[in-house]
Amino acid sequence: MSEGRNVKILITGGCGYIGSHTILRLLEAGHDITVIDNLTNSLPESLLRVEKLTGREVSFVEGDIADTSCLQKIFDQGNIEAVIHFAGFKAVGESVAQPLSYYRNNVSGTLNLLETMDAYGIRNLVFSSSATVYGTNPDMPLKEDLPLQATNPYGRTKQHVEQILTDLQAADARWRIALLRYFNPVGAHPSGLIGEDPQGPPNNLFPFVTQVAVGHRDRVHVFGNDYVTPDGTGVRDYIHVMDLAAGHAAALNFLAEHQGLHTWNLGTGRGYSVLEIIQAFEAASGTTIPYELVDRRPGDAPISLADPSRALYDLGWKASETLEDMCADAWRWQQNNPDGYRTKTSLPGEGPPC
Ligand code: WQD
Repeated sequence: MSEGRNVKILITGGCGYIGSHTILRLLEAGHDITVIDNLTNSLPESLLRVEKLTGREVSFVEGDIADTSCLQKIFDQGNIEAVIHFAGFKAVGESVAQPLSYYRNNVSGTLNLLETMDAYGIRNLVFSSSATVYGTNPDMPLKEDLPLQATNPYGRTKQHVEQILTDLQAADARWRIALLRYFNPVGAHPSGLIGEDPQGPPNNLFPFVTQVAVGHRDRVHVFGNDYVTPDGTGVRDYIHVMDLAAGHAAALNFLAEHQGLHTWNLGTGRGYSVLEIIQAFEAASGTTIPYELVDRRPGDAPISLADPSRALYDLGWKASETLEDMCADAWRWQQNNPDGYRTKTSLPGEGPPC
């Protein structure tokens, strides 16, 4: 796969928040996209909107990466040269309550994907990992070579898959693999047509704030204000989802020219507290966000910050969107779509479900 050449890419979980924004970026770069998504946590409407924004079609297959015959049908159609693997459950709290379904879906599903890719000679992979693999390591900013110590089943599924991919690439150098560790993805495409659409009560801060702003929730519960941080509330490295999408495109281009397995933090290196986020969102949206200080959420680290210097050095990638952009774009999406992607629309290019 040579850099800059348009290739056909399979995106697992492509109907989701980060997947849909990454697909938009890849279509704009001229690549051809096929999506497999089981729609447990997303709606295909997101792809219809991506098609509308880009004027290009996406081939969509409703299916599960655990379904070998479904993957074979996609690969039999030929020309897939790389896979970006987003599909997976991602709620920390839910993973504590249902560890088996997380290991089954996130780890066994990935094993099936890898075995089928290998059988078809497809060995370029970008994997959606997470800063959660660092656990509560206090050494800020977090660097890629720190020991991994995930503290919850969700984070451990990411850590296990990273280890599986490391062993796979060590055993067979034909594999070219990028492990992308996301910090806190937020915001939306500036059009306001695509964005984050959590199914059920949001686990994360940003979608909770936007749902308060649009009147779906009455207040934000601030989880703890007794941390050793400037205002006592948790500090995180929030990164605009469009910067994250650009990071995926850069990693894909890098794999076209470089062998091996590579790990990159995708963050900004700048942290903001919960109260700073609320204030920034109020300023960007002109809304008032009521909040209540409550107890800490178990397992939360006081601070999580990326050292993104390796991605700058290797990929020439650096986040550029500001906190104001993140808030304004998130608000535009939520204001235009108070109920997210609630209408199911048939998709051009939609094959029959597997
Ligand atoms: C951010 C800050 C909370 C909600 C998680 C996953 C991580 C990644 C991103 C998948 C913290 C505080 C939150 C609320 C609050 N997901 N908060 N009230 O926990 O940093 O990361 O999501 O890859 O893997 O661990 O994100 O948005 O939940 O929390 O006060 O209602 O906001 O305590 O300080 P987190 P978050």
